Amino acid sequence: MQIPDTPHRNFHGRRHGKALKPNQRLWLEEDLPRLSVPGVSRADNPGRAPLDPRALFGDDRPLWLEVGFGGGEHLAHQARANPGVGLIGVEIFLNGVAMALGKLRAAEVDNVRLHPGDVRDLMEVLPEGCLARAFLLYPDPWPKARHHRRRFVTPEYLGPLARALAPGAEFRVATDIPDYVRQTLEEVPPAGFDRVDTDVHTAWPDWRPTRYEAKALREGRAPHYLSFRRR
Ligand SMILES: C[S@@+](CC[C@H](N)C(=O)[O-])C[C@H]1O[C@@H](n2cnc3c(N)ncnc32)[C@H](O)[C@@H]1O
Repeated sequence: MQIPDTPHRNFHGRRHGKALKPNQRLWLEEDLPRLSVPGVSRADNPGRAPLDPRALFGDDRPLWLEVGFGGGEHLAHQARANPGVGLIGVEIFLNGVAMALGKLRAAEVDNVRLHPGDVRDLMEVLPEGCLARAFLLYPDPWPKARHHRRRFVTPEYLGPLARALAPGAEFRVATDIPDYVRQTLEEVPPAGFDRVDTDVHTAWPDWRPTRYEAKALREGRAPHYLSFRRR
């Protein structure tokens, strides 16, 4: 099992956590090579040639991206609920990838591909306008003001995401951090999006709560659900 490395990028979060359980190691060995998006790492694609999105599932189905899927609850749920869609899940924390592989096995879905690495590497090789939807669910909050530029809702991430989303594509953001709502509302529209949600406290009809949402609720923080449409 090869986990792509991204030495050329500044990444401040965690890549590994506590030791993997034997079944998680097995899922990583058996399932990850088959499910990984090819041609994302620099070793596999040094020229950074754009991916062929049709090659992922062998047809031209709509593609949805989930950034930082954590334990994969929402990813597996959306895959099961939308068999005609292809989901690309990205997560840099290996323990999360292992957990998600277990959920994908249990959900018996074949419409998910994974990038177990930095989302910036994937976005760099996605062709323009190839995505029909993107989810950013409980992104790392980076609470200190001097770290706000590490947040996903900054031009470093939003520019490549906007390029990869087709006009009219939906971009959903969930967060329990009021200051993250502020920055999202400040930075997402100028990156090429119109805000389309009407009630930030009402979840999407097809929502599946994630582990971080459960943690936020336990700790008394309110979820916020923001929706944007790519112009
Ligand atoms: C706060 S957790 C939320 C996980 C999940 N979405 C949930 O709601 O339970 C944020 C996740 O984003 C991942 N992440 C942060 N930066 C990333 C990056 N540049 N590329 C891929 N994943 C990233 C982290 O590893 C972490 O698992």
